[in-house]
Amino acid sequence: MSIEIDVLNGDASWPRVEPLMNAVWPKHVVEKLSWGHVKWAHADLRVLIEAPEESPKPGLACHVGIYFRTATWNGRKVDIGGIGGVATREDFRGRGLAGLALGAAIQTMRDHEAIKFALLFCEPHNFAFYEARGWHKFTGEVYAEQPEGRIRFEAMAPFVFDFTRAPRDGIIDLCGLPW
Ligand SMILES: CC(C)(COP(=O)(O)OP(=O)(O)OC[C@H]1O[C@@H](n2cnc3c(N)ncnc32)[C@H](O)[C@@H]1OP(=O)(O)O)[C@@H](O)C(=O)NCCC(=O)NCCS
Repeated sequence: MSIEIDVLNGDASWPRVEPLMNAVWPKHVVEKLSWGHVKWAHADLRVLIEAPEESPKPGLACHVGIYFRTATWNGRKVDIGGIGGVATREDFRGRGLAGLALGAAIQTMRDHEAIKFALLFCEPHNFAFYEARGWHKFTGEVYAEQPEGRIRFEAMAPFVFDFTRAPRDGIIDLCGLPW
């Protein structure tokens, strides 16, 4: 099986991604989760892996959203990358696709030299998945924008991937919507 990995504009590629997001996170399920009420940023870029042509069910097999943001860490401006919407279609799980897509996302962010570290948010059942891929828990506080104003963001746990900085604590302000 040959695997094609595309990195595309976030808004333009959304129609290809939406069916996978709805399948992995159906609205009626998300509404009941701790983060169901959160207003999220839209991805700037998206890593897409299509199901191979010979697959009985065509469509998107795996997705990782990439975000770029000038945030602050302990009050100082810092350009960071973000990862969100990591999802693999159920019938393609356990074949390394999310690992490949995450690797492509890390490489894409690394290509932007200004980016000092990457940040993602996840639930406890995925901590081990990201820790095994080089992400570290951020134990400080994270702030973000929501329609009601600036809030401390605690709906999910923050994890950091180090480039030239390795923040583990302190205060990160996303200076915008979370992802
Ligand atoms: C988490 C998810 C993206 C993994 O996708 P995938 O394509 O199956 O991942 P990969 O095949 O690259 O990696 C699978 C490996 O991770 C492990 N793994 C998968 N989920 C894990 C978890 N929650 N905790 C620890 N390990 C996990 C598998 O055991 C497997 O290990 P191995 O490589 O040693 O065999 C997929 O299960 C999914 O879409 N889940 C629902 C949505 C979700 O929770 N997304 C994460 C949001 S932060």
